Amino acid sequence: MRGKSSATLIVTANVLAGCNTHQSTLAPFGVDAADIRHLFIIMLVGAVVIAGGVALLMRHAVRAPEGSIDHRKGMRIVLWLGGIIPTIVLLALLAYSLPYMKPRPASPADLTIAVDGEQFWWRVAYAPPGRAPILSANEIRIPTGRTVAFRLSGGDVVHSFWIPGLAGKMDMIPGRINSLVVRAEKPGRYRGQCAEFCGLSHALMAFDVIAMPPAAFDAWLAEQARPARPSDDPGARLFAANGCSGCHGIAGVTAPSRIGPDLTHFGSRRTLAAGILPMTTANVAKFIRHPEKTKPGVRMPSFPQLSDDEGVALARYLQGLK
Ligand code: CUA
Repeated sequence: MRGKSSATLIVTANVLAGCNTHQSTLAPFGVDAADIRHLFIIMLVGAVVIAGGVALLMRHAVRAPEGSIDHRKGMRIVLWLGGIIPTIVLLALLAYSLPYMKPRPASPADLTIAVDGEQFWWRVAYAPPGRAPILSANEIRIPTGRTVAFRLSGGDVVHSFWIPGLAGKMDMIPGRINSLVVRAEKPGRYRGQCAEFCGLSHALMAFDVIAMPPAAFDAWLAEQARPARPSDDPGARLFAANGCSGCHGIAGVTAPSRIGPDLTHFGSRRTLAAGILPMTTANVAKFIRHPEKTKPGVRMPSFPQLSDDEGVALARYLQGLK
């Protein structure tokens, strides 16, 4: 009976996960999230069994004739059901779940990815062992089958880094580095989300997570390490004339970014504005001219002085940065 009910629960969990496989703790693509789902199912089965037992006891108590349980027997029931059995169950659950809480070990040979939460986007720096860091933003790619160590911090207020299908949440605290070591197993495109209220656009602070086979990942990272080529495109001239490089870096063209997201390979990202809009020319142009319309509370100033055509030219230039 118990085996049957847990099988039913696993099927139900997978059916529910089918509703959203991009951002779901029930559809893990990493080993840590799979552990969390396993613990969840164990605890859910336990909770259902206990709740069922309590319901049966209640039914029995209501139907029993008055006076059938004396004071002594009643106290014994309270002692066992209210004290001893819950203590045993909780201790057993603790002993069972403790090994899952042990952080996954990382070695210096593993890829490190530094991610800082900002209002309201993600600053990303890949640090492959023995090579210079590669700056990026708002999208995270990881290889499957390899250990990856995230070094998480906050640039302004406290954020929380959460990729439900990969691992549990981890706070991003200014002035402190928290480590989260993960391992993805299934390639695919997934989604992460800020999980700590951090201001007006907290709910609009998401990102794409792309898990790739190791060889494809290595090729992609080598591509990301390449600087952009300086260009005389009208969009590039607008980028310089409007002072965009004061906040945004484009390797090979400007100094690295200290304030806003790095744009060196902007056009290779699938989404815009931290996972909020599809990467289309119209969306990029609209975001540059009026970022606050997409993201209330955004730090980036608006550029209403740009004409429609100038917005499109700038967007085309940035999308060309692959
Ligand atoms: Cu960042 Cu919520």
